[in-house]
Amino acid sequence: MAGSQEFWEGRYRAAAAEGSSLWGREPNGWIAEQAAGLATGHAADLGAGEGRNAFWLAERDWSVEAVDFSAVAVAGMAEEAALRRLPVAATVGDVTAWTAEQPVDLAVLCYLQLPPDALAAAIGAAARALRPGGVLLGIWHDRLDVERGLAGTMSPAIRTTPDETAAMAVAAGLTAELSGRRDREVDGGLACDCLLVARA
Ligand SMILES: C[S@@+](CC[C@H](N)C(=O)[O-])C[C@H]1O[C@@H](n2cnc3c(N)ncnc32)[C@H](O)[C@@H]1O
Repeated sequence: MAGSQEFWEGRYRAAAAEGSSLWGREPNGWIAEQAAGLATGHAADLGAGEGRNAFWLAERDWSVEAVDFSAVAVAGMAEEAALRRLPVAATVGDVTAWTAEQPVDLAVLCYLQLPPDALAAAIGAAARALRPGGVLLGIWHDRLDVERGLAGTMSPAIRTTPDETAAMAVAAGLTAELSGRRDREVDGGLACDCLLVARA
């Protein structure tokens, strides 16, 4: 089923067999912009995939716990971290039931597209892991893409909106400092990202 652990494992296994990458090596531009302004510390990347954001952070003196439920993706991150001697601890785990190994200064959720209950659980897990003053950066495919006819095959059920993600952050005890949208050029028009900056 799309979005399940088996679904993602299959996608990463196929990419690894071809020697290709699903998400490339560049960090997400908005995550990089936001993180560049923060004092470095310990970060958690939840649903880290191949680790493009985790490695970008580690190259900039963050230590990073990178969690994903795909064992193939995690093995790839662990191999890259060892080869490049970067402080990325790659861990297989379900981010909806995750507990941090140590308090984190930054939690990153980058295109962690989950149904509302699961997303609220992941935001709750991130909120519990944050030190006082720590920051959650979240970016998602917004449900507005459906109205724009740009939703592709992704179910509206795993898309979200700024109001929904901000409410989840507040319910988890965080303060939503930025909750908004940003358009991004894609083939066929402008895709919309849902953005959240929240502080513990
Ligand atoms: C769209 S990819 C984004 C990967 C990465 N954050 C990036 O932007 O390059 C979503 C990732 O979330 C992971 N994921 C989805 N649900 C998860 C869950 N419940 N626990 C852990 N990882 C999950 C998937 O395996 C996949 O790697």
